[in-house]
Amino acid sequence: MVAWPDPERMRDIAEADVYKSGRFAGTLRRERDDIVFRYAEAYRADTDAPQVAFTLPKRNGIFRSTGGSVPAFFAGLLPEGARLAVIENFFLDMAAACGIRVPDHRLATDRNGQTALFVERFDRVPGPGGVRRLAQEDACQVLDRYPASKYRISLQEAIIGLAEAVQAGAGSRRSAVLHMLEIAAFSYLIGNGDLHGKNLSIRQAPGGIWEVTPAYDLLTTQPYLSWKDPMALSLFGRNNKLHRRWWLEAAERLGVPARACDRSLNRIIEAAEPWIDRVIEIGFEEEWSKRLAALIAERRDHLRQPS
Ligand SMILES: Nc1ncnc2c1ncn2[C@@H]1O[C@H](COP(=O)(O)OP(=O)(O)OP(=O)(O)O)[C@@H](O)[C@H]1O
Ligand SMILES: [Mg+2]
Repeated sequence: MVAWPDPERMRDIAEADVYKSGRFAGTLRRERDDIVFRYAEAYRADTDAPQVAFTLPKRNGIFRSTGGSVPAFFAGLLPEGARLAVIENFFLDMAAACGIRVPDHRLATDRNGQTALFVERFDRVPGPGGVRRLAQEDACQVLDRYPASKYRISLQEAIIGLAEAVQAGAGSRRSAVLHMLEIAAFSYLIGNGDLHGKNLSIRQAPGGIWEVTPAYDLLTTQPYLSWKDPMALSLFGRNNKLHRRWWLEAAERLGVPARACDRSLNRIIEAAEPWIDRVIEIGFEEEWSKRLAALIAERRDHLRQPS
């Protein structure tokens, strides 16, 4: 997976290379308020090299867009903010239905038709003198790794690191492991390929005891990654085709009885069933809705079947 530069700093990027099927095809460059896409000469001259997009025919060679925006084709490669809000809202609702703790959340649309997702912060609680801040650390932090390593740890390292920190903070290691396995199994189910070392966290609850935070950043990444995005972190060497037996064995290796994991998986499988047909509510184009429903149904079978 790509580590994107800080979005704030992306505003300062003046030039970017454009690749078509892995081949260098041209450049996007800022020119005052305009952004110009220029085909590379060699690419343009090669009659076998396809145009980058329908709206970017090679014969023109240069395309200028004004007002600081990229040509529409490039803008269309990015998921829209509103769409992302709807997707995440859907999967937070689904996770809650599956018995996974999530923060309170709500979709809202303003009078200009802009949709946003409001999510309650789990690192803040009302206190006597105003808002009280709770300590929170993600897996990279407890493992003393920098954010850039968020894809370079294993899922079991993340889970063990956080669960041991919970235990050191007077909390239950076992329920922490189980909770994180549920988040991971749910992520697998929905095709969330971005469960990395900064997407699992623990916090010090108001009473002082440490626990896993409600789940966050839960959404499917499949439609954006060719429908074959594996898990971001592998679980005991596997990042795909995670059948039931794999989860049960992982649980035991992590010190949780297989029967506890068994109950969690049953609960998730059962509760997830009616959500498969509901993916249409997200509003993807029909083809994507069908593929996503099929993917979730297939993975649900994986969670159900021993191997
Ligand atoms: N409800 C919440 N309360 C408090 N902190 C939160 C909450 N949701 C997310 N966070 C914190 O904010 C960080 C960013 O949130 P989130 O993971 O949803 O964003 P993101 O931009 O998708 O991140 P990335 O793409 O790097 O995974 C999280 O890593 C977590 O530490
Ligand atoms: Mg995140």
